[in-house]
Amino acid sequence: MKIIEKIIDMQDVMKIEKETGKKIGFVPTMGFLHEGHQTLLKEARDNNDIVVLSIFVNPLQFGPNEDFDAYPRDILRDEQIAKNMGVDYLFYPSVDEMYKDEKTTIIKVEKRVDVLCGKHRPGHFDGVATVVMKLFQIVTPHKAYFGMKDAQQVAVIDGLINDYHLPIELVRVETVREEDGLAKSSRNVYLNESEREKAPKLFQALCLGRDKLADGEKAIHEVKKGMEEFIALQTGAKVEYVEIYAYPTLEELTSPIREGKFNIIIALAVKFSKARLIDNIVFSYNKGE
Ligand code: PAF
Repeated sequence: MKIIEKIIDMQDVMKIEKETGKKIGFVPTMGFLHEGHQTLLKEARDNNDIVVLSIFVNPLQFGPNEDFDAYPRDILRDEQIAKNMGVDYLFYPSVDEMYKDEKTTIIKVEKRVDVLCGKHRPGHFDGVATVVMKLFQIVTPHKAYFGMKDAQQVAVIDGLINDYHLPIELVRVETVREEDGLAKSSRNVYLNESEREKAPKLFQALCLGRDKLADGEKAIHEVKKGMEEFIALQTGAKVEYVEIYAYPTLEELTSPIREGKFNIIIALAVKFSKARLIDNIVFSYNKGE
């Protein structure tokens, strides 16, 4: 595995690899790799000639009161994981390398950001879209891999690729779950024993909502209410939001839900004593046509 810190060097090696017809799979991350990242890397390894992993904690996507400085970093451990997963190139630029020139443009995300987590983190997705656009220009991958645990981020990247006609296939990788259904997350360690036992109920609540819609419930507010009550009763945790939108447009669905065939996302954020957990499911809805 080759570690590359300079943009120009990364562009040079990618040019050479592509000239010899190699297919490039790209996994952008902020490092501190966990099982979710490893699933993305495995998918990329299985389906491309060359795998590029980037590790860059992007200051642009952190708000003034967020944890940019405290964000966990462990490059030596990450390097080892990357090697084990068969990564060919690890792109590891400094903040200065990525943002050394004063910016003359920044990508402003106009849609899909005023809901879910974007509502609570103004400017976050502008920072994500800007850095991902830069990384795409540097790595020029054929395929880019993103985890559906961050479904809103995936929706934003989908918009970016379409708006700018980028010749990149967006590969959405399913959320990795524990055996009992709890979505894997570094934040699960903040759950105490009794909370950990109850936390799988979140996934059950998502399935409950999906099944109600599949069974013909047309009132979105009824589905949300049923889920909120289920979570409150089964976990005692505080529901921050339960939302249902069309996916990936993240357009509001009004009641009664429209007829047709489209994808739906049900997403939730719930606060336990120390952990704020998010989860979602995306599924195909097909009614009435
Ligand atoms: O999901 C992440 O780790 C980051 O938001 C990303 C896509 C690497 C951009 O900094």
